[in-house]
Amino acid sequence: MLKGKVAIVTGGSRGIGKAIVYKLASMGADVAVIYAGNAAAAEAVCKECAETYGVTARSYCCNVADFSDAKQTVTAIKKDFGGAHILVNNAGITRDGLIAMMPEDDFDAVIATNLKGTFNMIRHCTGLFMRAKEGCIINISSVSGLMGNAGQVNYAASKAGVVGITKSVAKELAAKNIRCNAIAPGFIQTDMTGAQGENPLLDMIPLGRMGRPDDIADAAAYLVTANYVTGEVLRVDGGIAM
Ligand code: NAI
Repeated sequence: MLKGKVAIVTGGSRGIGKAIVYKLASMGADVAVIYAGNAAAAEAVCKECAETYGVTARSYCCNVADFSDAKQTVTAIKKDFGGAHILVNNAGITRDGLIAMMPEDDFDAVIATNLKGTFNMIRHCTGLFMRAKEGCIINISSVSGLMGNAGQVNYAASKAGVVGITKSVAKELAAKNIRCNAIAPGFIQTDMTGAQGENPLLDMIPLGRMGRPDDIADAAAYLVTANYVTGEVLRVDGGIAM
C-alpha cells in the first residue's frame, strides 16, 4: 500500500515511535528512523523492518530541537532515499513539575523538543514533499494539550502548540497536496509513562485501560491513507478527553 513511499519517524527507536515505524514498514514504506541517543535500539528496529517487511530502513542520530541538526539529517535522508513522502513528528519529552517551582530549563527543554522540534522537521521536509507533489505529516500531540494537566504546564503548552502548527500547516500546504494531522494520545504504556509509575487517572478512562503503542500506530496508519482528512486532531485516548 505504501510501496515506493519514504516515511521519516522521529523518536522511532522505542515506544510509540517504534510501533509507528513497524506499522508503516508493514504497509510497505521505506523508513528513516530518527533517534536521539540509542544507536543500537534504532539499528535493531531497522534490521527488524528489513528482515520482516523487506523494506529499506536506515537510522539517523539527530536532536530534533536543533534547527541545523534537523536540516542536515533531512539532507542526508534525501541523499539516501531520494526524497520523502511521510513525516511523523513523534519525538517528545516530559519534565513535569508544579508551576510555582518549575525551573526555567524544564520549560525551555520541553518546548524545544516537542514544539520547536516539530517545526524544525516540517520546515526542512516541506521542500521534499513539494518536490514529490505529495506529503503526509502526522504530529503526535497529547490529551494534555487539549485538556491541560496539573504539573504539566510546559508539556501541555508544547502539545497545544503542536495543534496550532498542525492546523496552520494543513491550511498553508493543502494546495500543494500536503496533509497535516495530529494524534492526541491519552495514557499509553511506554517508558515515558512507566517512569511516572501507576497512573492515578486510570479510573477516569472510560475504556478502563491504558493504551498500547499499537493503538497509536493504527491511528497513524489510518491518517496516512485518509486522503480527504487534513487539519484533524484525532484523540486516541480510551475516551478520557471527550
Ligand atoms: P518515549 O520516551 O518512550 O519515546 C520518545 C522518543 O523520543 C525516544 O526515542 C527519545 O529518544 C526521542 N527523543 C526525545 N527527545 C528527542 C530529541 N530532542 N531529538 C530526537 N529524538 C528525541 O515516549 P513515548 O511514550 O513513546 O512518546 C512518544 C510521543 O507520544 C511523545 O511525543 C509523547 O509526548 C507523546 N505522548 C505519549 C503519551 C504516553 O502516554 N506515553 C501520551 C500522549 C502523548
